[in-house]
Amino acid sequence: MNNITSAPAPVLELRGISKAFPGVQALSGVALNLYPGEVHTLMGQNGAGKSTLIKVLTGVYTPDQGQILLEGRAIHPSSTLDAQNLGISTVYQEVNLCPNLSVAENIFIGRYPRKRGGIDWSAMQRQAVELLERMQIRIDVSLPLAHYPLAIQQMVAISRALLVSAKVLILDEPTSSLDEKEVDLLFSVLRGLREQGMAILFVTHFLDQTYAISDRITVMRNGEREGEYACGELSRFDLVNKMVGAPASSAADAGGSATVTATAAAPSKFQTFLRAVGLGRKGALSPMDIELRQGELLGLAGLLGSGRTEAARLLFGADKADGGSIVIDGKERSFTSPRDAIAAGIGFCSEDRKHEGAVLELSVRENLILALQARTGILRAIPLKRQQQLAEEYVKALGIKTASIETPIGTLSGGNQQKVLLARWLATDPKMLILDEPTRGIDVRAKQEIMDYVTALCRKGMAILFISSELPEVLRVSDRIVIMRDRKAGGEYPRGALDESSVLQVIAAGDAHE
Ligand SMILES: Nc1ncnc2c1ncn2[C@@H]1O[C@H](COP(=O)(O)OP(=O)(O)OP(=O)(O)O)[C@@H](O)[C@H]1O
Ligand SMILES: [Mg+2]
Repeated sequence: MNNITSAPAPVLELRGISKAFPGVQALSGVALNLYPGEVHTLMGQNGAGKSTLIKVLTGVYTPDQGQILLEGRAIHPSSTLDAQNLGISTVYQEVNLCPNLSVAENIFIGRYPRKRGGIDWSAMQRQAVELLERMQIRIDVSLPLAHYPLAIQQMVAISRALLVSAKVLILDEPTSSLDEKEVDLLFSVLRGLREQGMAILFVTHFLDQTYAISDRITVMRNGEREGEYACGELSRFDLVNKMVGAPASSAADAGGSATVTATAAAPSKFQTFLRAVGLGRKGALSPMDIELRQGELLGLAGLLGSGRTEAARLLFGADKADGGSIVIDGKERSFTSPRDAIAAGIGFCSEDRKHEGAVLELSVRENLILALQARTGILRAIPLKRQQQLAEEYVKALGIKTASIETPIGTLSGGNQQKVLLARWLATDPKMLILDEPTRGIDVRAKQEIMDYVTALCRKGMAILFISSELPEVLRVSDRIVIMRDRKAGGEYPRGALDESSVLQVIAAGDAHE
């Protein structure tokens, strides 16, 4: 930085932005300044208005009030394409590209370079390689996009943004499905773009990431801008307090180091609910043994792709095991579909909100009773009164922010949709519950409250299998931990036997117990 120049002008300025939906004031009078060459992180609890603000900026919603200035001039983006043409590009968590087209084609969709009336394929390939090079990524751009991991797909989405010479790049929770290495890759790309003068607006719920990448932080609360801070001047503790608007307990300052409280009772006290021996599936999971006990929370740790979800799907009958046996309550069972597993008292809250989860047109109540209805059978409708009662109960217990239980779930914020999906499985009152990244997209404070709630259910006798990429959380809540690596189970450890670095060591180096 050079201190002779006067303070730079913001490239993007939001003034007094308001936006209401029926029953909700999503934004009221929000201001935001984005400068060239900065990473600016937007933080706030679920439903605070972050995504709505971004949708206003990118032409998805028209604000009721307020102004957007780009390089000092008022703009009125009318669609994402319009915003893109103005120089504002957005990358969402779910990459909206075409998996079957090549990387190069995905970058150039709708803007193919032309030559004599046709598409200039070789120019396209060359330029695609150049764009990715700007981010230090060297891959074969003629392969289908689906060939590459999600992180690379996001880079492709970003290079599309570079193609239209974006001045502003917006990322709404882009890291929630990336593993640690992939996040590092994304961040090094963002740092490079920052150096080139791009203004980057970033939304995340991960405190570690916020502190790793941000220059400044804007905190939103209940649709208002709470404040804007230089990253170095705001402690984690203060940040969480500002998000929730009340002094948080120090425990809510999550995301920091894990505290392992060794208060669990001796494992022998727990009764076995399910025991799987040699459970496996060719190409997905090497045969493994696993035991779930009533009143015990078993954590499955490991990197993305290490076989955690595969194990869960076999236990739930979502995929068919090609070896091994499952014994429940002393009886051997074979699940040919999730229906069998549900009938046996097993629930499975999946990480895949978009594909397996929320039915966007249905109300919060209807989404919430879906799994319970599946168990009782379509022919035995749950009385409306009971449905309402359940919905009200869980909205309260999990702090779901919704105008009413009859609101379509599609209008809830991402984190609040996730809470409804969790409630859907809690409402079945399962004997065993599989939670696969249940708190993805949920804000730091709510995350802790939800895990406390789940732990309490466990203490009342539920057997829980908890899968999470967030090690501090796994260490904090699990009575036992199984570490997965390369699609097989590594060691099994009792509570308190591991800390974060020893888990990472086992993941990286393998384990003497194997
Ligand atoms: N299309 C819509 N119709 C009705 N209400 C909406 C709509 N979009 C958002 N809302 C409401 O506006 C509020 C802000 O939602 P928004 O999605 O901006 O939150 P967020 O800060 O992104 O939360 P999260 O961290 O959970 O993603 C919420 O109460 C939400 O229910
Ligand atoms: Mg959001």
